[in-house]
Amino acid sequence: MLHTGLQLPSPKSMRLPLLISATLVVAARGQVPIAPPWCGAVTQDSVVVTVPLDQAGVTTRLVVSTMAGLASPVFSTPVISQAALGNAVRLSVTGLNPNTPYFYALELNGILQPAHGGKFKTFPIPAAASFHFAFSSCGEWTNPQDAYEAVRLENPLFFIHMGDLHYEDTNVNNPTPYRENYTDLLAESPEQSNLFRNVPTFYIWDDHDFSGNTSDRTSTGRTAARQVYRERVPHYPLPAGGPNAAIHQSFDCGRVHFILSDLRSERDRDSDDDDADKSMMGDVQKQWFKDQLIAARDAECPMIVWMSGVPLIQKGDERDNWGSYETERTELLEFIRDQKIQNMIVISGDMHALAYDDGRATESYVAGVRIPVFHAAALARDGSTKGGPYSGGTSAGDGRYGIMEISDTGGAVSATYRGRIASSATSVSTWKTYTHTGEPVRPRKAKNLTAQPANGVLIHWTDDSGVESGFRVERRPTGTGAWTS
Ligand SMILES: [Fe+2]
Repeated sequence: MLHTGLQLPSPKSMRLPLLISATLVVAARGQVPIAPPWCGAVTQDSVVVTVPLDQAGVTTRLVVSTMAGLASPVFSTPVISQAALGNAVRLSVTGLNPNTPYFYALELNGILQPAHGGKFKTFPIPAAASFHFAFSSCGEWTNPQDAYEAVRLENPLFFIHMGDLHYEDTNVNNPTPYRENYTDLLAESPEQSNLFRNVPTFYIWDDHDFSGNTSDRTSTGRTAARQVYRERVPHYPLPAGGPNAAIHQSFDCGRVHFILSDLRSERDRDSDDDDADKSMMGDVQKQWFKDQLIAARDAECPMIVWMSGVPLIQKGDERDNWGSYETERTELLEFIRDQKIQNMIVISGDMHALAYDDGRATESYVAGVRIPVFHAAALARDGSTKGGPYSGGTSAGDGRYGIMEISDTGGAVSATYRGRIASSATSVSTWKTYTHTGEPVRPRKAKNLTAQPANGVLIHWTDDSGVESGFRVERRPTGTGAWTS
């Protein structure tokens, strides 16, 4: 088996064998990945795959096909590995068909490497579409890995890793250990790499994988963490730019808009006074977040999923979550109320438990703003609870993740949460199920309305809405009479 030598070893325990096998098997090729590829940032017509190589100067392409044997492939633009980027390459293929399963593999210096590949499915077009995705946080590569395999076996369209990818707590101004964390994670755990290779995985950090417990924008490792994220994670476009900028991003699947916020690398110190100056998002990200909500509203989006890596629900003196950034949370909830933002749900991690709240918590913070919140964790860490109270209760422990079933047949969209507990990769139970059904979307106002005297009144308008069921014209005979239609 020629490719046996390319099976990925554990970098800590098998670094030497890796070099030997590389010498024996790929000497003529002179290149090898040092960790499996990671697939993400899928859209209706594109995908991004990242992979770290063992050396600079390797010409790399992504090969994508609808067939497992990679016949009739589409190729990415070639990328040459560079030492300045830790020899990681970021490969993107565009022009794919929507809602279509694809297979991929790497091509290194002109030689196809079928062992280094995976699969994904492109998203549906931006119209009514039902799908399910998985989400969780708080993992390790040294603890039992059943939850990762269980997530993969759920066959979700994608997986959102909401942070604490690991607990290395690296906090130095040097990209090397951050690179090693990504490499170790994927090379040490076949379950995680199988998931990240075969289910598009979107990821935003929390504290332990950014720069240590309760880390914030003042952390020593901030610049290096931000740089290496861009090298190693297949992310959506980053509106903050880079390389030393926050990693918030957004995407759409069907008619659902997803907002992934970076609540670590811009946050003020947890110990600061909780006033109008204290922010978890930072000014630039917060304006972007508000703009996202307005744009979704104006696009008549029937569901917005906001990923808040840390618990939204908390009151009192517990630290490190939205409870100690209460002024900013109130600002955001009042914005949602005042701007008539509809149909937001929140998914959240950090707390090592399954939990949900039906919206009564946010309603208690700002009257009229009822946002259901769904927690899912921990993948591979001991259980703990934070914040609350949660109307649906909590279930703390490891082996936990959420499945969200989006049902969209063209009217109001529903989201069904299932809190899942894996006692092994194939033995999974459901803790609780909760369905939230959105409201019908408010249509945009008709545009260019004019009324002219004619034989009666001639009324013109432009239909600017895609969700209205009709228009009704009302009249009243005098300025004070009753309206009739
Ligand atoms: Fe955690």
